[in-house]
Amino acid sequence: MNTMSCLSSNFKFVFLASTVIWMTVMSSSLAAVDASNVTTIGTDSVTYDRRSLIINGQRKLLISASIHYPRSVPAMWPGLVRLAKEGGVDVIETYVFWNGHEPSPGNYYFGGRFDLVKFCKIIQQAGMYMILRIGPFVAAEWNFGGLPVWLHYVPGTTFRTDSEPFKYHMQKFMTYTVNLMKRERLFASQGGPIILSQVENEYGYYENAYGEGGKRYALWAAKMALSQNTGVPWIMCQQYDAPDPVIDTCNSFYCDQFKPISPNKPKIWTENWPGWFKTFGARDPHRPAEDVAYSVARFFQKGGSVQNYYMYHGGTNFGRTAGGPFITTSYDYDAPIDEYGLPRFPKWGHLKELHKVIKSCEHALLNNDPTLLSLGPLQEADVYEDASGACAAFLANMDDKNDKVVQFRHVSYHLPAWSVSILPDCKNVAFNTAKVGCQTSIVNMAPIDLHPTASSPKRDIKSLQWEVFKETAGVWGVADFTKNGFVDHINTTKDATDYLWYTTSIFVHAEEDFLRNRGTAMLFVESKGHAMHVFINKKLQASASGNGTVPQFKFGTPIALKAGKNEIALLSMTVGLQTAGAFYEWIGAGPTSVKVAGFKTGTMDLTASAWTYKIGLQGEHLRIQKSYNLKSKIWAPTSQPPKQQPLTWYKAVVDAPPGNEPVALDMIHMGKGMAWLNGQEIGRYWPRRTSKYENCVTQCDYRGKFNPDKCVTGCGQPTQRWYHVPRSWFKPSGNVLIIFEEIGGDPSQIRFSMRKVSGACGHLSVDHPSFDVENLQGSEIENDKNRPTLSLKCPTNTNISSVKFASFGNPNGTCGSYMLGDCHDQNSAALVEKVCLNQNECALEMSSANFNMQLCPSTVKKLAVEVNCS
Ligand code: GAL
Repeated sequence: MNTMSCLSSNFKFVFLASTVIWMTVMSSSLAAVDASNVTTIGTDSVTYDRRSLIINGQRKLLISASIHYPRSVPAMWPGLVRLAKEGGVDVIETYVFWNGHEPSPGNYYFGGRFDLVKFCKIIQQAGMYMILRIGPFVAAEWNFGGLPVWLHYVPGTTFRTDSEPFKYHMQKFMTYTVNLMKRERLFASQGGPIILSQVENEYGYYENAYGEGGKRYALWAAKMALSQNTGVPWIMCQQYDAPDPVIDTCNSFYCDQFKPISPNKPKIWTENWPGWFKTFGARDPHRPAEDVAYSVARFFQKGGSVQNYYMYHGGTNFGRTAGGPFITTSYDYDAPIDEYGLPRFPKWGHLKELHKVIKSCEHALLNNDPTLLSLGPLQEADVYEDASGACAAFLANMDDKNDKVVQFRHVSYHLPAWSVSILPDCKNVAFNTAKVGCQTSIVNMAPIDLHPTASSPKRDIKSLQWEVFKETAGVWGVADFTKNGFVDHINTTKDATDYLWYTTSIFVHAEEDFLRNRGTAMLFVESKGHAMHVFINKKLQASASGNGTVPQFKFGTPIALKAGKNEIALLSMTVGLQTAGAFYEWIGAGPTSVKVAGFKTGTMDLTASAWTYKIGLQGEHLRIQKSYNLKSKIWAPTSQPPKQQPLTWYKAVVDAPPGNEPVALDMIHMGKGMAWLNGQEIGRYWPRRTSKYENCVTQCDYRGKFNPDKCVTGCGQPTQRWYHVPRSWFKPSGNVLIIFEEIGGDPSQIRFSMRKVSGACGHLSVDHPSFDVENLQGSEIENDKNRPTLSLKCPTNTNISSVKFASFGNPNGTCGSYMLGDCHDQNSAALVEKVCLNQNECALEMSSANFNMQLCPSTVKKLAVEVNCS
């Protein structure tokens, strides 16, 4: 029976550890690879020619997946790698995050989430390859693009150009990393998994901005990388002058038209974005599975040989690792594996099917040059065929509106708009990118209380023991310094904290009109960003932030002044440092102008006044997030956590939620701040809402070129409500949750949520290529494998508990909102219940034994089912 294999896998990957010293094989024909020019000594040789990478003399067509190790936790790594492998992935790609590994000059850290060696070994054990993009500049929506903030303050340094201190530190880190990898024998040339390494990242976009220094730097970076002698090729992405033998590669939503700068280089796609990242206050982008599959199929159709999903698992920007300004703590990316480590259906499954079919064409694709055939104005075929009889064809319909029936080798093929059909034998369609045959999972966040543990066995939120610590609004302890005018926020904090207090005072005469309820005193602020809270005489008056695109904002707010001396305290905040752009490291933050209007004498400009500064919060200096001791003097016990209090630290002892599902903190009732569990940094939270007046889609049309604004959801909703708390951070009991709230919220309403797959949907249409009932003939009908079958599967340990919707006929709508059409087989639900109820998985054959095939003869019939899992 043809149960849809997008739900489970029968792939076998064999990792051949044998091999060599890297050398480029520049061949102009695609003749069989001559392996005699490489020495094999129990390690892998990685070479290339214009068609592909060649590993141990074998051409390779590779599916690669970005999984960034610090964006999950070591306990998740084996599962993520397994799921990637099951999804038909051969290679795991990661950046190396310099600022996580070298927190201060010469002080290296490769432990915990930054244990790169462990990550590589897990991949190696899974029998997969790796692409190591060392950079060390990475962008990646990661704080400061991955470069250490301290490096910006090394005198004479300019990032990413011919600057001696920059090159010195970059080379030192690159060498340290490469040596670490060598020591652990992790390069393929040593028998390890790493088949490619990257130096720099998309420098080509900015090189011109750096003039001659930029050109010299790009060349230097390439040579420096080559001098590391890793034994495997180096790549540079979006680098239009990458010198031989470095391979230039493509990053984009589509790379089928990409051509490497030299005809001797294979066509490699380092970043295919299957979704996009989010910023606090912005909408939620989604890229449809059909379009991702289309882009991948087009790439291989047009001679591509390595394709990497950036991201395959996006994960989480824990702590203060998110870049900015305003990148969310979640880096879910709408990737094939979701932030929590669950496969995202249908995307994961649809791509898995695609990978399997592409892999089945590997031999034909890699050993022949294609013949291009026009099948219509916007339709084309690429046929890879040789004398031995191997033949694979890709039929593409690039029309973004209209389906088309094309003729190929005297057979008609129906090509949906914006789709590619793959024919591994040049006859039968094994896959069409627009036909998603795999189930959609219904995932929800099930709330669960933060049960008290030691103090009370009762599951009663009120008996949680809360403790609080209140920050001073303004300079606490001894001021750091006083200065006339404003300092730059980032130059002052050096990013050791998000927070910097700017305080001053003004004197107000009792006769001012605004004190007698005539007129208003107004504060006007201009800031380079990113966010700010205004306190007057310790009371919060207003908050403001940039809009996400330009980190600059200005605002005016009424303020409550009193007669006499008034303290103005501005809490300026960074929300992740800039991640890319020419000279991005010089972009500053913090106020540039502060004025108070409404005085009898006019407006008072405080911009050049004496401002007193304090870096960071008192709680941060006390390392309060690490203070688990309930009896600690810092904390004050309270029966009820105070609500709507700005600048408040909260602590509670919570239980680990039961079960194995991934866990998140639901922060919808909180304002803005940071959270920790057992001293582990969950990250910044900010359930900032996007405007309800923006445009969002309910259904996304996959057809046509994708851009991140195309299929956005979540208008009027918080960009990020839930914050991932990895299971491995919980102890069986006595877990300490610490929250720092800046604005005010209701901590008694904080809940955990468990990410649960609560149901599944599937739909099948008779025009699905492998389900073409009408065209099935005699023996084919007898052949189980050809019967159209809809498969549904609930997560392990759960069963199909009810059938929410079932219709064989012409139902419409999408998963979660299916509706009956005017053609409906009355027995649909009873049949689905009979086959599926109380089963973990079930398969429904679209056969006359099950459904009334004679029903509505002129209608193209479909089967749509939605089930609940519990
Ligand atoms: C690319 C960059 C990646 C990442 C991506 C967007 O330009 O190389 O690091 O930032 O954009 O997610």
